[in-house]
Amino acid sequence: MTTGEAPKHGNSRLNKSVVLKRRPVGAPTPEDFGVVVGDLEPVVESHVEVENLAVSLDAGFRHWMDEGSGDHVLPAMELGQPVMGLVLSRVIDSRHRSFEVGDVIVSRLAWQEYSQFNGDLHHVKIHVDESLGLDLGVHLGILGDTGLSAYFGLFDHGRPTAGETVLVSAAAGAVGNVVGQLARIHGCRVIGIVSDDEKARYLVDSLGFDGCINRHRDVAAQLKELCPNGVDVYFDNVGGPILEVVLDHIAARARIVLCGAVATYNSSEKMPGPSNLFSLVTKNATMTGFLTHQSHDRYDEARSRIVEWMRGGELENLEHRLYGIESVGPAFCDMFAGRNLGKTLVELKSTAPEPR
Ligand SMILES: NC(=O)c1ccc[n+]([C@@H]2O[C@H](COP(=O)([O-])OP(=O)(O)OC[C@H]3O[C@@H](n4cnc5c(N)ncnc54)[C@H](OP(=O)(O)O)[C@@H]3O)[C@@H](O)[C@H]2O)c1
Repeated sequence: MTTGEAPKHGNSRLNKSVVLKRRPVGAPTPEDFGVVVGDLEPVVESHVEVENLAVSLDAGFRHWMDEGSGDHVLPAMELGQPVMGLVLSRVIDSRHRSFEVGDVIVSRLAWQEYSQFNGDLHHVKIHVDESLGLDLGVHLGILGDTGLSAYFGLFDHGRPTAGETVLVSAAAGAVGNVVGQLARIHGCRVIGIVSDDEKARYLVDSLGFDGCINRHRDVAAQLKELCPNGVDVYFDNVGGPILEVVLDHIAARARIVLCGAVATYNSSEKMPGPSNLFSLVTKNATMTGFLTHQSHDRYDEARSRIVEWMRGGELENLEHRLYGIESVGPAFCDMFAGRNLGKTLVELKSTAPEPR
């Protein structure tokens, strides 16, 4: 990824940002976002200026695009203001002792080419270790929140043992594909749930999944066929009606890991919960939610194991990478439409490489 100074117009330094043009109704569409050009002010004391190298698209941020959605994590995003997300950035100017020019960080910032923040107030998720020699994009994906969600969700909460059947929804997505690969490495039978046959073929032929279910066909029938002894671990990324169907097919002492609920994020109404929670009683099963950042003290452990598996050729890094600030809004929409295979991210400064 290349870096550089902000382009100038006369004495002004220009900065492009993606703003929330209107609040999405249902699934987000590219028209909900607009790109505006503004001026960058000089950096003041205690502040830091970063060049944003890449933007991570994370389904959970859809929540704060709704009116009145503010909570302890983020205020509701404001119309006409830059959209917030997770961003990979390089420090290009620093008036704060904790940040040096050249540092690469991952933190919650706006979808824009350059950002400034108060170093005293800014929470950095990751100080990137460039000595790993990996493409920096991995720190938004397989070594970032999504890969770590797969690691902690599967091993700490799913607690699979070799030979057990692990089922994962949104299996071709950022978190899901890593869950499936880790379960396979662990010696489990892995079944994914996806929305089309091409993704299913990829997961089985290239990532070693044992089978895939198409969520647009009869999920119950496919579950019966592919998980005849029931599901031991269900890693749930989507919630909604699929969770209910899966609960009818769990094995005794199954563990259901609630990582997210993509199927509900676009709904303005509260969606009804599963009507069959009694299966948890009859199957002596557990259902647990988790937040990855609560395992912050073990990130180094998780990252070093993930890097080891990647270097050993057992774990593949899958990305849906787009280019340029204009692609950020559309990339977010792609994810909800299920157009992504792996982690969705936008590299800001480069253009797409020529096809070979
Ligand atoms: N707990 C945590 O700390 C934590 C941290 C990070 C992420 N998460 C959660 O992890 C989940 C996955 O996130 P991600 O970034 O990896 O996204 P992702 O899986 O890369 O993208 C979302 C996927 O969801 C599927 N999908 C979209 N609409 C759906 C619907 N109505 N019903 C079922 N599936 C639908 C699509 O795949 P198909 O069309 O192929 O099904 C799409 O590719 C999200 O729920 C996210 O909020 C949780």
